[in-house]
Amino acid sequence: MSSPLRYIIVGTGGFGRYWCSQVLPRLRDLGKAAAAAAVDISPDALKNAQTFLKLPPDKCYSDMAKAFDENPADFAIVVVPPAHHESVVDVALAHGCHILSEKPIADSMEACCRIYHKVKRAGRKMAVTMSHRFDQDKQSLQRLIQSGKYGRLDYLVGRNTWMCRKYAAWGNFRYQIPDPLLIEGTVHHFDIIRSLADSDAKTVHALTWNPAWSEFKGDCQALILIEMLNGVKCLYEGAKANASALNGWTEDYWRAECEGATLELDQRRLRVIAGRLNQQAMIEQVPLQQQPAWMNPWLAERFVDWLNGADAPPNNLEDNIQCAALLFAAIESAHTKQIVDVQEFLAGRLKA
Ligand SMILES: NC(=O)c1ccc[n+]([C@@H]2O[C@H](COP(=O)([O-])OP(=O)(O)OC[C@H]3O[C@@H](n4cnc5c(N)ncnc54)[C@H](O)[C@@H]3O)[C@@H](O)[C@H]2O)c1
Repeated sequence: MSSPLRYIIVGTGGFGRYWCSQVLPRLRDLGKAAAAAAVDISPDALKNAQTFLKLPPDKCYSDMAKAFDENPADFAIVVVPPAHHESVVDVALAHGCHILSEKPIADSMEACCRIYHKVKRAGRKMAVTMSHRFDQDKQSLQRLIQSGKYGRLDYLVGRNTWMCRKYAAWGNFRYQIPDPLLIEGTVHHFDIIRSLADSDAKTVHALTWNPAWSEFKGDCQALILIEMLNGVKCLYEGAKANASALNGWTEDYWRAECEGATLELDQRRLRVIAGRLNQQAMIEQVPLQQQPAWMNPWLAERFVDWLNGADAPPNNLEDNIQCAALLFAAIESAHTKQIVDVQEFLAGRLKA
């Protein structure tokens, strides 16, 4: 087996704590990657790198450029808010690093496209951790749809509704940025839709708003209609300021209406339904798939395997730029109240 690759993690507070405590120790235990250094502007956040990654204080930096200058690394892990992703990518590429980044690629389509071109020009590899698409329940549904056993997929319905209307209940920065639901939440569901439909998006029509009782500055509720390039239709409901969390993170609702059956995933319970409910309906509870790891631990492992010569994982940059296009086309749709052609939106920005 090849020796462990070396990484620098930028952002060790917030979600970075999860990376330090749950994702990266597994990579170390598998012998696949080890920490070279950690970076965060908050000394408190750097304690996570010391505690969980066992990095000495002199390998924990507040100065990102210094961390990369002093510590040779194979890849960078980006876990800072989206508005700062590009500056980390710039430093990482200048030091020859590959990049494993938190979602979304960046906080605007222009920045996503700049990152896309910079990574391509540098000849480096980049993947984006779309955690929820790679969760056990969504993967189980995807595999069930794609088994072909229930015929063609006609349409999808999805819901992720939450109650975090009060400031800081969903981390501070999300209450201050424009379009927090779409940028920070729905981006996951857009990628789930792409994977369940096995297609990129053709058009999107998004209605977003901010109710009077919300403490978000930007829109935190949405109803969205998407048509995919392969003809699959999708209806999505997302909310952060509801009075209940009917289908919160990791317990979201997805329904795949297939030619031969309704496949329903609700709070991690997967059912196949055919016929009229309560009247001779066929209802089968399907166990979720099993494998050693899901979400970020699985994605981090696949990324390292990719760097070591395995096939590109499905969350690679080339694929994820389509997710970014759907995200920012949806934001454009919400702002203009028009249906947006996602592929035209992407082509226009990627070549600019
Ligand atoms: N995949 C998921 O399920 C998931 C969940 C939560 C967050 N995220 C993503 O993780 C990223 C970070 O979000 P978060 O919730 O941890 O944010 P956060 O604000 O809670 O924490 C970000 C950390 O980055 C540090 N930081 C901020 N700017 C920095 C800079 N320029 N240089 C160095 N350190 C800096 C902060 O001090 C803090 O410790 C975002 O891209 C977010 O979308 C993903």
